[in-house]
Amino acid sequence: MIIEPIAPHAEASFFTPEEYASIYKTINDTMDLGVKESGDKWQHFRKNTNNGFNVVFLSERRHGPLPGLSQEVEDKIRSKFEEKTGGPVGHIGILWARYTLESTAMPSLMPHQDRSETHTAFMFTAELETNIDWDFYVEDEKFTMEKNKAIWFSGTHQSHWRPDYDFQEGDYYDIILCQTHSGADENPLEEEHWLDGDDHSNEVAEKYAKLLMNSRAKAAMMQGPCQ
Ligand SMILES: [Fe+2]
Repeated sequence: MIIEPIAPHAEASFFTPEEYASIYKTINDTMDLGVKESGDKWQHFRKNTNNGFNVVFLSERRHGPLPGLSQEVEDKIRSKFEEKTGGPVGHIGILWARYTLESTAMPSLMPHQDRSETHTAFMFTAELETNIDWDFYVEDEKFTMEKNKAIWFSGTHQSHWRPDYDFQEGDYYDIILCQTHSGADENPLEEEHWLDGDDHSNEVAEKYAKLLMNSRAKAAMMQGPCQ
């Protein structure tokens, strides 16, 4: 069965107030644990300098000792994906991240296509707590973001990015990003697909060079993909 990429679209008010609070209970419990153990709230997060965010892979916590998502939030995310793909899905990747200078790097999201799914990805990114405005683009389409608004897209096929934003000390921008693929998809993506995707994303970065001056300068200095 051929699975087509998602037509990018927004979904406002994604989580219920209870689900939203539950996500932040998980995050705050994780921070509190770090403070208790070492005085560093980021102890149980990974500092990712390529993205300029501090991240926690919540999907890896399902069976571990660290605070994980509640069953209600897990169920909500799974049912949203099943609604989009029209059937059962397997593993769902979930990450929460805070873009902040506390990551020790400038936050950025260079145009890229994700290699993190073996088949056509179904993904959404949602804006959570923040004190800045930061647009999200899928290819040429600009999505003005707001709290608890999710953008659905296929990150394996569609170049996605954010324009330069001059983060100051104290600025933060939280997201939750979830991804899976259709359980009915029988067409694994091949190397050629990823190489074409890299070329295409370079073209997108070139096209929007004026919005990506700082991000591109940073990418030129970093090792590995700069997202
Ligand atoms: Fe991505």
